[in-house]
Amino acid sequence: MHRDQIDTPALLLDLEAMEHNIAAMAEYFAGQEANLRPHFKTPKCVEVASRQVAAGAIGITCAKLGEAEVAVDGGIESVLIANQVVGQLKIQRLLDLLPRAEVIVAVENEANVRELAEAGRASGRMPRVIIETDVGMGRCGTRSPAETVQLAHLIKEQGLEYRGVMGYEGHCVLIPDAEQRVAKASEAMDVLMAHVEALNESGLNPEIVSAGGTGTYDVTGSRPGVTEVQAGSYVFMDGLYSHVRADAPFRPALSILSTIIARHGDDAIADVGMKSLTNEFGPPRGKTSKFKVSSLSEEHAHLDLQPEDAMKPGDRVEIYPSHNDTTINLHEEYYVMRGDELVDVWKIAGARKYR
Ligand SMILES: Cc1ncc(COP(=O)(O)O)c(C=O)c1O
Repeated sequence: MHRDQIDTPALLLDLEAMEHNIAAMAEYFAGQEANLRPHFKTPKCVEVASRQVAAGAIGITCAKLGEAEVAVDGGIESVLIANQVVGQLKIQRLLDLLPRAEVIVAVENEANVRELAEAGRASGRMPRVIIETDVGMGRCGTRSPAETVQLAHLIKEQGLEYRGVMGYEGHCVLIPDAEQRVAKASEAMDVLMAHVEALNESGLNPEIVSAGGTGTYDVTGSRPGVTEVQAGSYVFMDGLYSHVRADAPFRPALSILSTIIARHGDDAIADVGMKSLTNEFGPPRGKTSKFKVSSLSEEHAHLDLQPEDAMKPGDRVEIYPSHNDTTINLHEEYYVMRGDELVDVWKIAGARKYR
């Protein structure tokens, strides 16, 4: 099928660009001590994740248990849930996954360690855990190396399988100035390494030391002591990251195909709105022409056209999302393109798995 026969709005995945991104990241990590464990919160699709693993990734990272279930159902053998799994409803689901794949979950407080261990003992399956440390983002995570050491002792005492630590430098990944970004991310890794050193001194050497995002993959990826990097967005590169990491070897691989439904002067209206495209990271932009999506209502987009744009109702345009992860979450499938030809349709099975 040709692109012109696809109904709109549709999420188009440029296979060649994605393959390029996967190969470029694999090449980078082939030269590093650290491994890549790409974040599934971007593609949410097993067809993408299995290509990342085939290219050398050691498994995937997930934000949610529901995403991990999708990945394990799809045959991914090693999954890090870089987030807390709290409460018996979720812990039961986590325990159900344990015999099916190597699933590792982050912990950051005593109560959660105790409830995981208690459920684990009752089921005869002990969860594998890493300790989440706060490296400056101020979200989840232990706040000091002493707290990390104390939690690691408790993990062992309670019989959970202790695997290591993580520290995501999310407050650094989107800093536009390269020097500042590198400096801040290096500081964050100093914090993570202080936790690692304290663990080592207590005989609790972490096997896994996990960190990193697309904005900082090469800072964390080359940091001695980091064993794996959780970058996710690089696989499709969205508008914001393409700007922040214009120097990185990744290409935009995702666009929304949309139809112009009205034109009034410089203002064109397209059939894509906030139910199929997000704009919290700034205005999405045109792929072939440089128009800007100036505003969105539920099912309409206002396109702020360039003087050369001659779009009229019925014409089709492609728009690069400014933030892929949240846009993808609104869709059911990727229309997988090689050039202008539709070659496959992949289900976004991890979309809206926020539980
Ligand atoms: C825990 C964690 N790790 C890694 C990432 C990296 O993602 P990205 O590649 O989009 O920077 C994120 C992003 O939200 C995250 O929350």
